[in-house]
Amino acid sequence: MRKKMTIIGAGNVGATAAHWAASRGIADVVLLDVVEGVPQGKALDLSQAGPVDGFSVSLTGSNDFADSAGSDVVIITAGLARKPGMSRDDLLAKNVAIVKSCAEQAAKHSPEAVLIVVTNPIDAMVYTAFKVSGFPKNRVIGMAGVLDSARYRTFLAQALGVAPRDVNALVMGIHGDNMLPLVRLANVAGVPVSALLSEEELAAIVKRTQHGGAEIVNHLKTGSAFYTPGLAAVEMAEAVLADSKRVLPCAAYLEGEFGFSGCFLGVPVVIGASGVERILEFPLTDEEKAAMAESEVAVRKQMAATGL
Ligand code: LAC
Repeated sequence: MRKKMTIIGAGNVGATAAHWAASRGIADVVLLDVVEGVPQGKALDLSQAGPVDGFSVSLTGSNDFADSAGSDVVIITAGLARKPGMSRDDLLAKNVAIVKSCAEQAAKHSPEAVLIVVTNPIDAMVYTAFKVSGFPKNRVIGMAGVLDSARYRTFLAQALGVAPRDVNALVMGIHGDNMLPLVRLANVAGVPVSALLSEEELAAIVKRTQHGGAEIVNHLKTGSAFYTPGLAAVEMAEAVLADSKRVLPCAAYLEGEFGFSGCFLGVPVVIGASGVERILEFPLTDEEKAAMAESEVAVRKQMAATGL
Protein backbone atom coordinates (compact mmCIF):
# COMPACT_ATOMS: atom_id res chain seq x y z
CA MET A 1 0.00 0.00 0.00
CA ARG A 2 1.21 3.48 -0.81
CA LYS A 3 2.11 5.83 2.00
CA LYS A 4 -0.27 8.67 2.83
CA MET A 5 0.62 12.27 3.49
CA THR A 6 -1.62 15.15 4.46
CA ILE A 7 -0.70 18.77 3.82
CA ILE A 8 -2.70 21.20 5.94
CA GLY A 9 -3.04 24.57 4.23
CA ALA A 10 -3.63 24.82 0.47
CA GLY A 11 -1.97 28.21 0.13
CA ASN A 12 1.28 28.84 -1.68
CA VAL A 13 3.50 26.68 0.53
CA GLY A 14 1.00 23.84 0.94
CA ALA A 15 0.03 23.63 -2.72
CA THR A 16 3.66 23.85 -3.80
CA ALA A 17 4.59 21.09 -1.36
CA ALA A 18 1.79 18.98 -2.88
CA HIS A 19 3.26 19.69 -6.31
CA TRP A 20 6.78 18.60 -5.36
CA ALA A 21 5.44 15.55 -3.45
CA ALA A 22 3.34 14.40 -6.40
CA SER A 23 6.12 14.96 -8.88
CA ARG A 24 8.48 12.88 -6.74
CA GLY A 25 5.73 10.27 -6.22
CA ILE A 26 6.46 10.00 -2.50
CA ALA A 27 2.90 9.33 -1.24
CA ASP A 28 -0.79 9.78 -1.86
CA VAL A 29 -1.52 13.36 -0.88
CA VAL A 30 -4.50 14.88 0.90
CA LEU A 31 -4.54 18.66 0.62
CA LEU A 32 -6.65 20.20 3.39
CA ASP A 33 -7.84 23.75 3.89
CA VAL A 34 -10.70 25.57 5.61
CA VAL A 35 -11.54 27.47 2.42
CA GLU A 36 -14.11 25.52 0.45
CA GLY A 37 -13.16 24.61 -3.08
CA VAL A 38 -9.52 25.69 -3.00
CA PRO A 39 -7.94 22.37 -1.91
CA GLN A 40 -10.36 20.49 -4.18
CA GLY A 41 -9.54 22.65 -7.18
CA LYS A 42 -5.79 22.61 -6.65
CA ALA A 43 -5.68 18.85 -5.99
CA LEU A 44 -7.78 18.16 -9.09
CA ASP A 45 -5.60 20.42 -11.24
CA LEU A 46 -2.43 18.80 -9.92
CA SER A 47 -3.77 15.26 -10.33
CA GLN A 48 -4.25 15.98 -14.03
CA ALA A 49 -0.48 16.49 -14.36
CA GLY A 50 -0.02 12.76 -13.64
CA PRO A 51 -0.17 11.58 -17.26
CA VAL A 52 2.29 14.24 -18.35
CA ASP A 53 4.69 14.21 -15.40
CA GLY A 54 4.43 10.46 -14.99
CA PHE A 55 3.34 10.14 -11.37
CA SER A 56 0.69 7.67 -10.15
CA VAL A 57 -0.01 8.96 -6.65
CA SER A 58 -3.50 10.21 -5.87
CA LEU A 59 -4.29 13.78 -4.85
CA THR A 60 -7.40 14.63 -2.85
CA GLY A 61 -8.58 18.08 -1.85
CA SER A 62 -10.74 18.35 1.25
CA ASN A 63 -12.12 20.58 3.99
CA ASP A 64 -12.63 17.62 6.32
CA PHE A 65 -9.93 16.28 8.63
CA ALA A 66 -11.60 12.86 8.48
CA ASP A 67 -10.10 12.54 4.98
CA SER A 68 -6.62 12.84 6.46
CA ALA A 69 -7.09 9.78 8.69
CA GLY A 70 -4.19 7.37 8.96
CA SER A 71 -1.58 9.63 7.40
CA ASP A 72 2.06 8.64 7.81
CA VAL A 73 3.18 12.25 7.60
CA VAL A 74 1.26 15.47 8.21
CA ILE A 75 2.79 18.75 7.05
CA ILE A 76 1.32 21.85 8.71
CA THR A 77 1.60 24.94 6.53
CA ALA A 78 -1.66 26.66 7.56
CA GLY A 79 -1.38 30.21 8.84
CA LEU A 80 -0.73 33.75 7.76
CA ALA A 81 2.42 34.63 5.82
CA ARG A 82 4.60 37.70 6.23
CA LYS A 83 4.09 41.00 4.45
CA PRO A 84 6.92 43.53 3.95
CA GLY A 85 8.07 45.03 7.26
CA MET A 86 6.69 42.14 9.33
CA SER A 87 8.95 39.87 11.31
CA ARG A 88 8.09 36.21 11.69
CA ASP A 89 7.24 37.00 15.34
CA ASP A 90 4.48 39.40 14.25
CA LEU A 91 2.57 36.37 13.04
CA LEU A 92 2.76 34.53 16.32
CA ALA A 93 -0.56 35.30 17.99
CA LYS A 94 -2.68 34.52 14.94
CA ASN A 95 -0.77 31.46 13.87
CA VAL A 96 -0.57 29.84 17.30
CA ALA A 97 -4.37 29.46 17.33
CA ILE A 98 -4.34 27.98 13.82
CA VAL A 99 -1.49 25.57 14.51
CA LYS A 100 -3.10 24.45 17.78
CA SER A 101 -6.27 23.39 16.05
CA CYS A 102 -4.37 21.76 13.16
CA ALA A 103 -2.12 19.79 15.52
CA GLU A 104 -5.10 18.67 17.61
CA GLN A 105 -6.94 17.41 14.54
CA ALA A 106 -3.84 15.81 13.06
CA ALA A 107 -3.13 13.94 16.30
CA LYS A 108 -6.74 12.78 16.53
CA HIS A 109 -6.98 11.45 12.98
CA SER A 110 -3.38 10.30 12.43
CA PRO A 111 -2.09 9.25 15.86
CA GLU A 112 0.99 7.53 14.40
CA ALA A 113 2.03 10.32 12.02
CA VAL A 114 5.21 12.33 11.94
CA LEU A 115 4.30 16.03 12.08
CA ILE A 116 6.35 18.49 10.04
CA VAL A 117 5.64 22.10 10.96
CA VAL A 118 6.26 24.86 8.44
CA THR A 119 4.04 27.68 9.73
CA ASN A 120 5.96 30.71 11.02
CA PRO A 121 7.45 31.54 13.42
CA ILE A 122 8.54 27.95 12.96
CA ASP A 123 10.46 27.39 16.19
CA ALA A 124 7.45 28.42 18.29
CA MET A 125 4.89 26.74 16.05
CA VAL A 126 6.68 23.40 16.19
CA TYR A 127 6.73 23.75 19.98
CA THR A 128 2.99 24.46 19.88
CA ALA A 129 2.35 21.35 17.78
CA PHE A 130 4.54 19.29 20.13
CA LYS A 131 2.62 20.45 23.22
CA VAL A 132 -0.85 20.14 21.71
CA SER A 133 -0.39 16.82 19.88
CA GLY A 134 1.11 15.00 22.85
CA PHE A 135 3.35 13.22 20.33
CA PRO A 136 6.83 12.06 21.38
CA LYS A 137 9.59 14.52 20.50
CA ASN A 138 10.90 12.43 17.61
CA ARG A 139 7.57 12.75 15.76
CA VAL A 140 7.36 16.54 15.74
CA ILE A 141 9.87 18.36 13.52
CA GLY A 142 10.20 21.94 12.34
CA MET A 143 11.16 22.81 8.78
CA ALA A 144 13.75 25.56 8.64
CA GLY A 145 17.28 24.30 8.29
CA VAL A 146 16.75 22.60 4.94
CA LEU A 147 15.44 25.89 3.54
CA ASP A 148 18.03 28.13 5.20
CA SER A 149 20.87 25.78 4.26
CA ALA A 150 19.58 25.64 0.67
CA ARG A 151 19.72 29.43 0.50
CA TYR A 152 23.22 29.42 1.99
CA ARG A 153 24.36 26.75 -0.48
CA THR A 154 22.82 28.65 -3.39
CA PHE A 155 24.60 31.89 -2.51
CA LEU A 156 27.91 30.04 -1.97
CA ALA A 157 27.52 28.21 -5.29
CA GLN A 158 26.83 31.49 -7.10
CA ALA A 159 29.90 33.12 -5.56
CA LEU A 160 32.07 30.12 -6.40
CA GLY A 161 30.64 29.49 -9.86
CA VAL A 162 30.01 25.83 -9.05
CA ALA A 163 27.04 23.45 -9.15
CA PRO A 164 24.82 24.11 -6.10
CA ARG A 165 24.55 20.39 -5.29
CA ASP A 166 28.30 20.20 -4.71
CA VAL A 167 28.11 22.79 -1.92
CA ASN A 168 27.66 21.30 1.54
CA ALA A 169 26.75 23.81 4.19
CA LEU A 170 24.77 23.83 7.39
CA VAL A 171 22.58 26.46 9.02
CA MET A 172 21.71 25.88 12.68
CA GLY A 173 19.69 27.67 15.36
CA ILE A 174 16.53 29.70 15.00
CA HIS A 175 14.67 30.37 11.73
CA GLY A 176 15.20 34.09 12.16
CA ASP A 177 17.85 36.78 12.04
CA ASN A 178 19.97 35.00 14.68
CA MET A 179 20.32 31.82 12.63
CA LEU A 180 23.83 30.41 12.42
CA PRO A 181 25.19 29.64 8.95
CA LEU A 182 28.38 27.74 9.82
CA VAL A 183 31.30 29.01 7.76
CA ARG A 184 33.85 26.68 9.33
CA LEU A 185 32.12 23.56 7.99
CA ALA A 186 30.93 24.86 4.61
CA ASN A 187 32.69 23.15 1.74
CA VAL A 188 32.46 22.45 -1.95
CA ALA A 189 33.02 18.73 -2.59
CA GLY A 190 35.18 18.63 0.52
CA VAL A 191 37.20 21.79 -0.15
CA PRO A 192 36.60 24.41 2.57
CA VAL A 193 34.90 27.54 1.21
CA SER A 194 37.09 29.61 3.53
CA ALA A 195 40.02 28.67 1.25
CA LEU A 196 38.15 29.90 -1.83
CA LEU A 197 36.29 33.05 -0.75
CA SER A 198 37.43 36.09 1.23
CA GLU A 199 36.19 36.85 4.74
CA GLU A 200 34.23 39.81 3.36
CA GLU A 201 32.56 37.68 0.70
CA LEU A 202 31.66 35.04 3.26
CA ALA A 203 30.31 37.61 5.73
CA ALA A 204 28.06 39.04 3.01
CA ILE A 205 26.76 35.56 2.14
CA VAL A 206 26.09 34.77 5.81
CA LYS A 207 24.13 38.01 6.17
CA ARG A 208 22.15 37.44 2.99
CA THR A 209 21.28 33.92 4.21
CA GLN A 210 20.10 35.26 7.58
CA HIS A 211 17.77 37.66 5.79
CA GLY A 212 16.95 35.33 2.90
CA GLY A 213 13.25 35.12 3.74
CA ALA A 214 12.82 38.90 4.06
CA GLU A 215 14.59 39.45 0.73
CA ILE A 216 11.84 37.44 -0.97
CA VAL A 217 9.02 39.04 1.05
CA ASN A 218 10.30 42.44 -0.07
CA HIS A 219 10.12 41.40 -3.71
CA LEU A 220 6.74 39.68 -3.50
CA LYS A 221 5.08 42.26 -1.22
CA THR A 222 1.98 40.08 -0.81
CA GLY A 223 3.52 37.08 0.96
CA SER A 224 6.62 35.02 1.54
CA ALA A 225 8.67 32.39 -0.25
CA PHE A 226 7.02 29.11 -1.20
CA TYR A 227 8.91 27.10 -3.84
CA THR A 228 11.88 26.17 -1.68
CA PRO A 229 9.93 26.10 1.63
CA GLY A 230 7.50 23.63 0.00
CA LEU A 231 10.34 21.49 -1.35
CA ALA A 232 12.22 21.57 1.96
CA ALA A 233 9.17 20.15 3.76
CA VAL A 234 8.82 17.45 1.09
CA GLU A 235 12.53 16.57 1.38
CA MET A 236 11.96 15.90 5.10
CA ALA A 237 8.70 14.02 4.46
CA GLU A 238 10.36 11.82 1.84
CA ALA A 239 13.11 10.89 4.32
CA VAL A 240 10.41 9.75 6.78
CA LEU A 241 8.32 7.90 4.20
CA ALA A 242 11.32 6.13 2.67
CA ASP A 243 13.05 5.60 6.05
CA SER A 244 16.15 6.84 4.28
CA LYS A 245 18.18 8.14 7.28
CA ARG A 246 18.88 11.39 5.46
CA VAL A 247 20.91 13.88 7.48
CA LEU A 248 19.03 17.16 7.34
CA PRO A 249 19.12 20.29 9.48
CA CYS A 250 15.74 20.50 11.22
CA ALA A 251 14.19 22.14 14.26
CA ALA A 252 14.28 19.30 16.80
CA TYR A 253 13.34 19.18 20.48
CA LEU A 254 16.56 19.29 22.47
CA GLU A 255 17.20 17.61 25.78
CA GLY A 256 20.79 18.48 26.52
CA GLU A 257 22.17 18.32 22.98
CA PHE A 258 24.51 21.22 22.23
CA GLY A 259 23.87 22.35 25.83
CA PHE A 260 20.17 23.24 25.32
CA SER A 261 17.08 21.68 26.84
CA GLY A 262 13.33 22.03 26.53
CA CYS A 263 13.17 23.94 23.27
CA PHE A 264 13.28 23.41 19.52
CA LEU A 265 16.38 24.62 17.67
CA GLY A 266 17.81 23.85 14.26
CA VAL A 267 20.39 21.06 14.46
CA PRO A 268 21.57 18.31 12.13
CA VAL A 269 19.38 15.23 12.55
CA VAL A 270 19.00 11.76 11.07
CA ILE A 271 15.50 11.39 9.64
CA GLY A 272 13.86 8.00 9.24
CA ALA A 273 10.49 6.31 9.59
CA SER A 274 10.07 7.39 13.21
CA GLY A 275 11.00 11.00 12.48
CA VAL A 276 14.05 12.38 14.27
CA GLU A 277 16.03 9.22 14.94
CA ARG A 278 19.22 10.88 16.13
CA ILE A 279 20.69 14.32 16.64
CA LEU A 280 24.24 14.59 15.33
CA GLU A 281 25.99 16.50 18.07
CA PHE A 282 29.48 17.88 17.55
CA PRO A 283 31.66 20.43 19.36
CA LEU A 284 30.94 24.08 18.55
CA THR A 285 33.45 26.91 18.81
CA ASP A 286 32.87 29.59 21.47
CA GLU A 287 31.62 31.95 18.78
CA GLU A 288 29.17 29.35 17.43
CA LYS A 289 28.02 28.55 20.98
CA ALA A 290 27.32 32.24 21.55
CA ALA A 291 25.29 32.43 18.33
CA MET A 292 23.26 29.38 19.35
CA ALA A 293 22.66 30.94 22.77
CA GLU A 294 21.28 34.04 21.03
CA SER A 295 19.01 31.80 18.98
CA GLU A 296 17.81 30.13 22.18
CA VAL A 297 16.95 33.49 23.80
CA ALA A 298 14.88 34.47 20.76
CA VAL A 299 13.15 31.07 20.59
CA ARG A 300 12.29 31.15 24.31
CA LYS A 301 10.72 34.58 23.89
CA GLN A 302 8.53 33.17 21.13
CA MET A 303 7.71 30.10 23.22
CA ALA A 304 6.60 32.29 26.13
CA ALA A 305 4.33 34.22 23.76
CA THR A 306 2.50 31.00 22.80
CA GLY A 307 1.19 30.76 26.38
CA LEU A 308 1.90 27.00 26.41
C1 LAC B 1 11.09 32.13 4.62
C2 LAC B 1 9.82 31.94 5.36
C3 LAC B 1 9.13 30.70 4.93
O1 LAC B 1 12.15 32.04 5.23
O2 LAC B 1 10.03 31.96 6.72
O3 LAC B 1 11.02 32.35 3.41
